[in-house]
Amino acid sequence: MKVNEHPRKTIKKVCSFMIFSCFCFREVRLRSHFARKIQKLNDRINGIVSEKNTFDFKLSEGETKRPEHKITVSVIDATEIKGRETDKGKIVKMLVSESSDQEPAPRTISLVGMGGIGKTTLAQLVYNDHEVGTYFGKRIWVCVSDPFDEIRIANAILEALVGSAQDLIELQALLERIQELVSGKRFLLVLDDVWNEDSTKWEQLKNSLKRGCLPGSRFLVTTRKREVANCMGSSSTDILELGLLSPDECWSLFSQLAFFEKNSRDRDLEETGRKIAERCKGLPLAAKTLGSLLRFKRSRAEWESVLNNHVWEIEEAESKLLAPLWLSYHDLPTEMRPCFLYCAVFPRDYTFKRDTLIKLWMAQGFLRETQNQEMEATGGECFEALAARSFFQDFEKDEHDGRIIQLKEITEQKPTPVYRLPKPIYSIQYQPY
Ligand SMILES: Nc1ncnc2c1ncn2[C@@H]1O[C@H](COP(=O)(O)OP(=O)(O)OP(=O)(O)O)[C@@H](O)[C@H]1O
Ligand SMILES: [Mg+2]
Repeated sequence: MKVNEHPRKTIKKVCSFMIFSCFCFREVRLRSHFARKIQKLNDRINGIVSEKNTFDFKLSEGETKRPEHKITVSVIDATEIKGRETDKGKIVKMLVSESSDQEPAPRTISLVGMGGIGKTTLAQLVYNDHEVGTYFGKRIWVCVSDPFDEIRIANAILEALVGSAQDLIELQALLERIQELVSGKRFLLVLDDVWNEDSTKWEQLKNSLKRGCLPGSRFLVTTRKREVANCMGSSSTDILELGLLSPDECWSLFSQLAFFEKNSRDRDLEETGRKIAERCKGLPLAAKTLGSLLRFKRSRAEWESVLNNHVWEIEEAESKLLAPLWLSYHDLPTEMRPCFLYCAVFPRDYTFKRDTLIKLWMAQGFLRETQNQEMEATGGECFEALAARSFFQDFEKDEHDGRIIQLKEITEQKPTPVYRLPKPIYSIQYQPY
């Protein structure tokens, strides 16, 4: 200390040195405390990683890759089609029925049903019908698919009207051209495989098509979802819900393929074949897939194996039969997926009662309460939405308010143990085969 230095100043210096060193010590202690904490966390994370590795989890391809939509065309070999005479008659009648001059827009008729039930096939039958061909001055087939791309659809319509590809990129120019070309014509426009529920996307196209066209023009839509039919403008009387094939029709379709070029010796496979056809439960896609698969199998053991296995266990059938059905699952909003998957733990012929199922979803924590809506209401919406997306085939409605009160799965097979469900998806539990 210097002689002339003020003693108070010295004290202050000593104090501030002490504070500084205390602070330093505290900081060091804190740092080492955090270092230990980070070390502990790292150890925990390493533990979790090594535990995860013991389960050998793999990212399933199916989870990330969206299944592809099939491209459809209007061509069909009508001789291969089983049944559907009544449905075809109904649709043709709706299409060619007299229409008033005051009709606000072409009527929209929709074919609704689950994947693989034969909506596109029926639309093709109708499109190629002689009466339809002569009634409409112009017939146009567009495979819409998902997403609903207005420019692509408008270009497809234009190409059909002109007879060659135009490849315009401005919607405005496309719509003006379409409007000119349909003017004074009576047309039938088939929109196959529609998923879009945003009516504004369709409105613009619809407006340009309806302007100037002759009364009696029609839209024919195929979709898996009833909401889509409503959004495209179909009134409830203009919606045809497609049913399954009868057992005889289903057998006829299956056997035509499975016994193709087989001789009378192979006829002893018939008994097993009939049981397999029964398992298809009238779904044409299933009858066609399994029939084609058995066409090249000649031994009884091979046929028995198809009969006794789940479809997802038969490699050749899986891609043809399950891939199209995957689309419906992928289209479900994320929050509805657990509700749907949960149903998979019930036996196949189980009848789902609306209120009970909603309570079970609530107990599982699948439903959320929002500020404006109680859980039960959210569950009710989910139930209706599953029913309207053709996941189930059999409904029972309330006599008074028309509300769907129960859904019934139509197959009679025994329940599948959860551990035997297919890895990527359980939805096939709800498909009738
Ligand atoms: N009545 C029928 N007779 C013979 N085969 C049929 C019949 N209905 C459908 N099929 C065949 O079953 C398969 C599925 O039919 P289709 O593609 O028409 O179903 P979809 O309801 O349009 O399905 P998606 O919802 O996937 O578009 C096709 O291979 C079709 O040829
Ligand atoms: Mg289709």
